[in-house]
Amino acid sequence: MKVLVATEKPFAKVAVDGIREVLEGAGYELALLEKYTDKAQLLEAVADADALIIRSDQVDAEVLDAAKALKIVVRAGAGYDNIDLEAATAHKVVAMNTPGQNSNAVAELALGLMVYAVRNLYNGTSGTELKGKKLGIHAFGNVGRNVARIAQGFGMDVYAYDAYCPDEAMIAANVKPVHSAEELYKTCDIVSLHIPATAETKNSINHDLVGLMPKGGILVNTARKEVIDEDGLIALMQERADLKYMTDIMPVADAKFRTLFEGRYFATPKKMGAQTAEANINAGIAAAKQIVDFIQNGNTRFQVN
Ligand code: 3PG
Repeated sequence: MKVLVATEKPFAKVAVDGIREVLEGAGYELALLEKYTDKAQLLEAVADADALIIRSDQVDAEVLDAAKALKIVVRAGAGYDNIDLEAATAHKVVAMNTPGQNSNAVAELALGLMVYAVRNLYNGTSGTELKGKKLGIHAFGNVGRNVARIAQGFGMDVYAYDAYCPDEAMIAANVKPVHSAEELYKTCDIVSLHIPATAETKNSINHDLVGLMPKGGILVNTARKEVIDEDGLIALMQERADLKYMTDIMPVADAKFRTLFEGRYFATPKKMGAQTAEANINAGIAAAKQIVDFIQNGNTRFQVN
């Protein structure tokens, strides 16, 4: 049984060691394709793999066509918008994610971006504090819940909107539920995005929605770039010099944002929310264990297709 770990953005070495231990312990072989620069490298490496572990790496019909022996692909992480689920199903390949395994890392980065924003990008001028500010969590999943927990430590007043989450779950976490995205943006000084990229959410964070934010509003994105209507956000930030946008996913229009909004826009050079040793270990080892459990016992608990 050959398991390929294909990560354009590699895991920490300690996580790869852990993955190797799990797979070799089950008698499987580990193949590693890290920092690849060309899809052709992935197509070649995947040809004889029985199982595949990826991060944000694209698994489309072409990759699945090339993967003649593939039975399972596990996205070591939360969002699986990088896997063509229909094509996976058509190829009889089980697709899974590892929900919750990297969520603390992403949440810590979201809070870090908030501090960076209210301290004026550490430019030496007098900023403000997170304490007492209203934080809106847009989608109360694994990352959103961790953001709420950490934000409460900062003394923030935490609100959340999630159409798929019952109020009780928010109330139990001392979070105030609101019942529309509009209400969340209208209420909160800072909004942190934790929605997946789906047909429904793409471009949904737009001019009119973000425009509801109070003076000095800060939008923090550690989710996906696709959920942002970039043209709409640019137009809004041109109209409103008080707004800031902090993102862990570089927008397509990064150069434009940088030129137009110096001092109130920041993007990491590469998505790094889940880029910690701990998150790599948790998600990578969970992926390896899920593969072993699927191959040996047929366990499909985390299947998403
Ligand atoms: C996720 O969906 O788990 C996060 O966006 C992390 O993605 P990454 O593995 O590419 O860092």
